[in-house]
Amino acid sequence: GEMPLELHKVRVVQKLHLVPINRRLEAIEEAGFNTFRLNTKDVFLDMLTDSGVNAMSDNQVAAMFQADDAYAGSQSFFRLQKAVEDVLGKKFLLPVHQGRAAENVICRTFVKKGSVIPTNYHFTTTLAHVMENGGVIEELYHDRALVLHSDHPFKGNMDIDKLEACIQKHGAENIPFVRMEASTNLIGGQPFSIRNMMDVRGVCDKYGIMLVLDASLLGENAYLVMKREEAWKENSMADILKMMTNLADLVYFSARKLSSSRGGGICTNRRDLYMKMEALIPLFEGFLTYGGISVREIEAMAVGLYETLDETMISQSPSFIKYMVDTLDKAGVPVITPAGVLGAHIDAGTFCAHIPQCEYPAGALAAALYLVSGVRAMERGTVSSIRDENGNDVLADAELLRLAIPRRVFTLSQINYAIDRILWLYDNREMIGGLRFTYEPPVLRFFMGGLEAT
Ligand code: F0G
Repeated sequence: GEMPLELHKVRVVQKLHLVPINRRLEAIEEAGFNTFRLNTKDVFLDMLTDSGVNAMSDNQVAAMFQADDAYAGSQSFFRLQKAVEDVLGKKFLLPVHQGRAAENVICRTFVKKGSVIPTNYHFTTTLAHVMENGGVIEELYHDRALVLHSDHPFKGNMDIDKLEACIQKHGAENIPFVRMEASTNLIGGQPFSIRNMMDVRGVCDKYGIMLVLDASLLGENAYLVMKREEAWKENSMADILKMMTNLADLVYFSARKLSSSRGGGICTNRRDLYMKMEALIPLFEGFLTYGGISVREIEAMAVGLYETLDETMISQSPSFIKYMVDTLDKAGVPVITPAGVLGAHIDAGTFCAHIPQCEYPAGALAAALYLVSGVRAMERGTVSSIRDENGNDVLADAELLRLAIPRRVFTLSQINYAIDRILWLYDNREMIGGLRFTYEPPVLRFFMGGLEAT
């Protein structure tokens, strides 16, 4: 494939450990075959997530030194507020400690028993917070969104006819908001188009329903709009980002992803919405000018937001992902195409076709890949799902293994090492066996759950 090129230099490094395979076997057993529970001293390439592990820039680190420590009225907050207004075009900002904290505040404020939240696709923490407040979600992805091997440029689009039908069925009064997630995480980091978001906005306006944008992966969605949507090819990242946020009443984000730091935020231009949520910030997060985030991280977040406008920065991870996906695809390994953002996604259902879905093929593949390579990936399949009211697994739409490629962290030779090990494992895939739970937490079970070989 096309060779990606790093447009940065490495100035601070951290030593990695490639421990021997017998230690890796012990480690994955100690971790209950759950890669979340590994200690990074046993991990070689950490491709678990991009969350909070994207490389920071020199300017972000520099800004952290001029942070203004103050419980209230910190200048760091006002710099962040200005960055949010400049980049996301919203003047009211509520800071929160991370993305799911934003979901907590939004769902407590707007979701009640019987509420229905239409969305292009759920995210684990969003679904948990909607359910926590008595609501349900309806996923209104279009017919081609879940075709794993595809050339559809915008699998993250919402199906507009399904949205109309959903509102007709449940009544606008039971739908506090429609949620659009940028770079739809759980279907493989797949973007939506601006055309689609405009159409969603049109339906929201027709029925007087609020539109909420999960902007955690907004920079990458904007970059793919620039690459793939004809009408926006000549526009800048700044124009595209603003266009998308302008279409939403409420924008929230995990800054662990959006700006390579910590924290998160909720922003809007509507004072009425801001006022409904304001009191929850001191209750759950911290005072309104720090929101549970250190002021140093607030400075890094502000600089990171401006850096999102730089397409040479934002394109680095997607171009490495594309290289990995295209190389694996050419070699016949089942991967999600087209390459999305956040990471490369292996179709574990096909890779491990001999493992029934109730024995968690994606979880099994995650454990096996760690064993043969020291690469830590993340299960995104039925282990990450929930149980229904009868206690049965809700089988995931797809069994995915996600190899996250955080921004500017890995070199191309490390990517090639991961590819080489995946190819070896694919040739020896019959050796991989299924898993069952031995310990299963009641919510978000994938984080701390323990499993064993069946
Ligand atoms: N929304 C999206 C689209 C996300 O990807 C995440 C986190 C969140 C909300 C929650 O944000 O972690 O700061 O509380 N995604 C991480 C991941 C965990 O690995 O994909 P958070």
